[in-house]
Amino acid sequence: MSNTSGNKQRESFGSKFGIIAATAGSAIGLGNIWRFPYVAGENGGGAFLLIYLGFVLLIGLPVMLSELTIGKAAQRNPFGAFRILRPGEKWFLIGLMGIVAAFMINAFYTVVAGWTLEYLLKALTNQFSNKSATEISELFSSFQQTGWRPVVWTLIFIVLTATIVIAGIEKGIEKYTKILMPLLFVMIIILCIRAVTLPNSLEGLKFLFKPDFSKISNKAILEALGQAFFSLSVGMGTLITYGSYIKKKENVSSSATSVVITDTLIAVLAGVAIFPAVFSFGISPASGPDLVFQTLPNIFSQMNGGYIFGLMFFFLLIVAALTSTISILEVVVVYLVEELKMNRKKATILASLGIAFLAVFCSLSLYNVPEIAIGGKSLFGILDYTSSNILLPLGGFLIVLFVAWFMGVGKLKDEISAGGKYNVSLFGLYLFLIRFVAPLAIAAVFLYGIGLLKF
Ligand code: PHE
Repeated sequence: MSNTSGNKQRESFGSKFGIIAATAGSAIGLGNIWRFPYVAGENGGGAFLLIYLGFVLLIGLPVMLSELTIGKAAQRNPFGAFRILRPGEKWFLIGLMGIVAAFMINAFYTVVAGWTLEYLLKALTNQFSNKSATEISELFSSFQQTGWRPVVWTLIFIVLTATIVIAGIEKGIEKYTKILMPLLFVMIIILCIRAVTLPNSLEGLKFLFKPDFSKISNKAILEALGQAFFSLSVGMGTLITYGSYIKKKENVSSSATSVVITDTLIAVLAGVAIFPAVFSFGISPASGPDLVFQTLPNIFSQMNGGYIFGLMFFFLLIVAALTSTISILEVVVVYLVEELKMNRKKATILASLGIAFLAVFCSLSLYNVPEIAIGGKSLFGILDYTSSNILLPLGGFLIVLFVAWFMGVGKLKDEISAGGKYNVSLFGLYLFLIRFVAPLAIAAVFLYGIGLLKF
């Protein structure tokens, strides 16, 4: 799937399964297992989940299909794709916005990915067993207080990502995600079983599944939308990039549907693994970005085979995070390669240096140098919040508008049906969603979330 320069020999995914594996690899990651529980926990649980599911279905899936279709139609990076499809117009700015979002997301994402490396080491050296919930939460804070330790892990993760992107992805990604993602799935199920059999687990399940709309603020609705975009990897061109590696004859709508179902299932299961434990161990569901790291080790410490399960879990989580950071970095790299004619290695190193620079400040801003903040929010918080809740929805809004109104219905149908090869009986519904429902809903949620619209 890697690319040399220009548009000469563009490589593509080997099979339909390859498309799903790579796209799911991008979608499934810390967004499902770290971000979903922490954001749902801060926003009241059940009602948040319900709104989130609605957004995934009505907005996330159509945006995903639109992105893949743009990529497949143009066989180019996001910036170039818009210039090919609508020459002489300003749509390519969506591509540039995606590049900005890619830097921002990778900067805080690799910080959390760095924490998972530390936790793999902790699992390996058996640091969770026989520890009380308080001791486990101290493990996290003393790790953060070193200051340098999280920074070093973050940099290691950035190097790991860059190494894979330089090597070109097709050999690795398709092969490993096929085995490792299903394994991650199995691990989460095992965690779920242990979590729901903990004392007081029912409280956690109620928190996650019993909607209490009085807990929903306008900010929570915006955050549900942001989480849907973030988790599905849509709104910044990642899936335009991956779509550009899809062969003309492939069925993008069925791939998009499979990815959306899998991604959502994993997020919900992560919630089922985390919240019962949160309540059982007396952790606050609104603990923020630390939530998962405070909670999961307790489950491992309380289960038979916790050592080996902990080890496997953190290893698989790292792989899941890597297949996501790769897909984010790829957006920047393929732009530099195709538009600025840089070679792949140089492009990757340059982009990674930029990300590393931001990521170091991001890591320090969270617990050690609170001065790295704007308006009382840490740099980490700002990048996390603005990329998901502002940049991705804005990108998604423009992408659906583009596909719905400017790409041409005939061309769109042709791409999605692969020249009439696949059944497109739901095409009318899709068109309705991208023409009206998705853009209006995104605009409304956005204005409501920032307080400019009131119902
Ligand atoms: N979807 C990824 C996750 O859930 C994160 C991501 C966001 C990847 C945006 C690509 C683009 O972990």
